Amino acid sequence: MSLFLDNAATSYPKPETVYRAIDAAMREIGVAPGRGGYRQSLTAARTVFETRSTLADFFGVPDSSRLVFTHSATESLNIAVSGLLKPGDHVVTTSMEHNALVRPLHLLRGRGVEVTFVQADREGRVSEREIAAAMRPGTRLVAVTHCSNVSGTIQPVGEIGKVARQGGAVFLVDAAQSAGYLPIDVIELGIDLLAAPGHKGLFGPPGTGILAIGEGIELEPLLVGGTGGNASSLEQPEILPERFESGTLNTPALAGLKAGVDFIRETGLEVIRAKEKLLVGMLLEGLSAMEEAVIYGPRGNDHGGAVSFNLGGRDASEVAFLLDAEYGIAVRAGLHCAPEAHRTLGSYPGGTVRVSPGFFNTEEDIAFFLQSLAGLARS
Ligand SMILES: Cc1ncc(COP(=O)(O)O)c(C=O)c1O
Repeated sequence: MSLFLDNAATSYPKPETVYRAIDAAMREIGVAPGRGGYRQSLTAARTVFETRSTLADFFGVPDSSRLVFTHSATESLNIAVSGLLKPGDHVVTTSMEHNALVRPLHLLRGRGVEVTFVQADREGRVSEREIAAAMRPGTRLVAVTHCSNVSGTIQPVGEIGKVARQGGAVFLVDAAQSAGYLPIDVIELGIDLLAAPGHKGLFGPPGTGILAIGEGIELEPLLVGGTGGNASSLEQPEILPERFESGTLNTPALAGLKAGVDFIRETGLEVIRAKEKLLVGMLLEGLSAMEEAVIYGPRGNDHGGAVSFNLGGRDASEVAFLLDAEYGIAVRAGLHCAPEAHRTLGSYPGGTVRVSPGFFNTEEDIAFFLQSLAGLARS
C-alpha cells in the first residue's frame, strides 16, 4: 500500500463512517429520491434533505434550499459564472485560480464578458486593495480561490468580500482547498456564491460538490430536465434546489458526504486544521533544511494543505515518479491545473512537486517522505 500524499486532489482514505453510509444507502435505500410517493423513495428524499441541511448548517447558509448539489467544484463554478454573467459584464479574479474557474471565464470572454486578472505577489497572495483597484462600475463578479491548490496560499476572503460588496459585485469563492479545513460562514465572510467539492476536505466520495447561492442571487441553470416536480410544465422550475438539480441525484454519495461532514463536526474543525498545520509545518521545515529543495509559496503558519517544491534542477515529474516507484509515495507533479499560479510563483513552465497530507496522515508519514526525498536527492 502506498503512502498517499495527494489529498489536494481528493481525500483518501475517508472516515470509516463514510464507507458504511454509502454501503448502507446502496443496499437499504437504493431508489431515486423525490420520484415516487412510496416509503423507500421518501427515505431517499429524507437522506438528501438531511445532507443538504447538514451542509447548509456547516457553511452558515440560512436557507438550506439555496445549497444545491453538483458533481464537483468544477460544475459548481461553471453554474456560478455561466449562470450569472451576461455580455458586457466585468469580472475581477486573480492569477492564482484553478482552470475550473479560468476556463469557464475564458469561454465567457468569447461571449463578451471582460475579465481582469489581479496579479498575486510571489507567495501567491492578493490584497483586498488590489481587488478594489481592479473593480469598476460594471464589475458584476469578484471571484477568488480561498486557498491555492499549488502553494497553499490563503487569501483574505473576508476582506475581499467587503470590497466586492462595497463595489456592488457578487462575490464567488472557490473553496476547493479550504472547505473542511478552514472555518467558512457565508454570511460572516460576505460570500454570495460558494463552490466546494464534496470529495476533498469534506470527506465525501468522488462525484460530489456543492454550490451555495446567496439570497437574491439569480442564476440560469446549466442543465435543465426532470426534477421530480411540476412535470406538466415545459419550463425549468424557478424554485430551489430543483432549478439546479435536474436528473436523479446520487443518494448513496450524498449519504457519504453527510457522514463526512458529521465526522468533521465530531472531530472538530479546529482539530483538523491543527493537524494540517502540524504536518505542513513539518514539511516546510524539512524542505527548508534540504539544500537542493526550492519551496514555492508562503513559509509561515498561515498555510493551507498543499506544499509545492522542486528538487535542484530535477524535473518535477521525474521526482514524483521516483518517489512512487522507489518509496511507494503518491504525490503530484506538474502545473496542477493552474498555469498562471506557477507564473506567479516562479515555477512555470516546469511546474512543481506537490505534497498534500490529509487528516489521516501521521508525523511518521511526513518523516518517511522527507527521508525518502533526501535519499532521492543524494542519488
Ligand atoms: C482550487 C481548486 N478549484 C477547483 C477544483 C476542482 O475541483 P473538482 O475536482 O471537485 O472539480 C480544484 C481541484 O483540484 C481545486 O484545487
